[in-house]
Amino acid sequence: MAHLEAQREIPYNLFKAKTPLWGEVLETYRLTPPERPEENDVRHVVLSSTGLSYLPGQSVGIVPDGYDPRTGKPHKLRLYSVASDSKGDYGDYKTVSVVVVRHFWNDELGGQNRVPGVCSKFLCDCEVGEKVRITGPVGKRFLLPTDYQQRDLIFVATGTGIAPFRGMLKQMFEEGYEGQVFLIFGVQHSDTVLYDDEFKTYLKYPNYHYATALSREAAKNPFPDIVPTRQNKIYVQVRVWELRDELRASLAKPDTVIFQCGLKGMETGVMNVIDKIGLDLGIDNLSKELQTDGRMILEVY
Ligand code: A2P
Repeated sequence: MAHLEAQREIPYNLFKAKTPLWGEVLETYRLTPPERPEENDVRHVVLSSTGLSYLPGQSVGIVPDGYDPRTGKPHKLRLYSVASDSKGDYGDYKTVSVVVVRHFWNDELGGQNRVPGVCSKFLCDCEVGEKVRITGPVGKRFLLPTDYQQRDLIFVATGTGIAPFRGMLKQMFEEGYEGQVFLIFGVQHSDTVLYDDEFKTYLKYPNYHYATALSREAAKNPFPDIVPTRQNKIYVQVRVWELRDELRASLAKPDTVIFQCGLKGMETGVMNVIDKIGLDLGIDNLSKELQTDGRMILEVY
């Protein structure tokens, strides 16, 4: 990875949990239709953050108000990938945006189902004008290479894993990016594709390629033998295979970088299909080679 990291200042931990930045909610809106269930309740939240510099791909900490009932101590911070570019959504370097899905978990010990996640509830429910504690930024790995301009880049995301790519793409096209970039984005439904309109605006650039993988629509995986998926769903790895001719041309280049952000489950599926494309290039274990070379960068959870 060292070679991707030429000289640059990476802002880091400018604000810590004990001395957080107090940001204000400037905007908050749902990115998915209100008719969809709470599991699909995804919000875009813009926070004022004067003094906090960051790069797309980094994360910020959010400290939810209140106390952890199990320990009686204040809640700990949770990390969220930044969803804006370094300038922020208002272009004045004074905001940071995050994308949050309302999370639920099953508390098996306590015997309670569908317990709302503390921080996702806090952020999803916050209203304009409320004050929020922000820490960070953190993360030095999931960043555009400093010399990204002419490299081909392959972005694969599921769900809110799209956050870093939103900021990266904005920055890239503003800076006159010249490589080929592929955005392959998996969500459940056609109306839950986060930032879809924004991602479509880049289609005016001939070097931008955008594909969505909708796992819960009627269409089924047309390549179940080559790219097996659960219940033959259309997952991002299926789209990777569909785009194999274009991707092969990019993967044949020695400096192409693949980024994956989202569900842990996609990692193996995407690696397997990259390996299949690699075989056509006469490379065994292409995904391993890319990882060793620091050109397969993962943020999966
Ligand atoms: P599904 O939930 O239908 O199995 P979200 O976070 O909004 O649920 O989006 C995550 C997307 O990633 C969903 O479309 C989900 O499909 C899909 N997904 C789940 N498991 C995998 C996997 N192993 N590989 C790729 N995509 C996956």
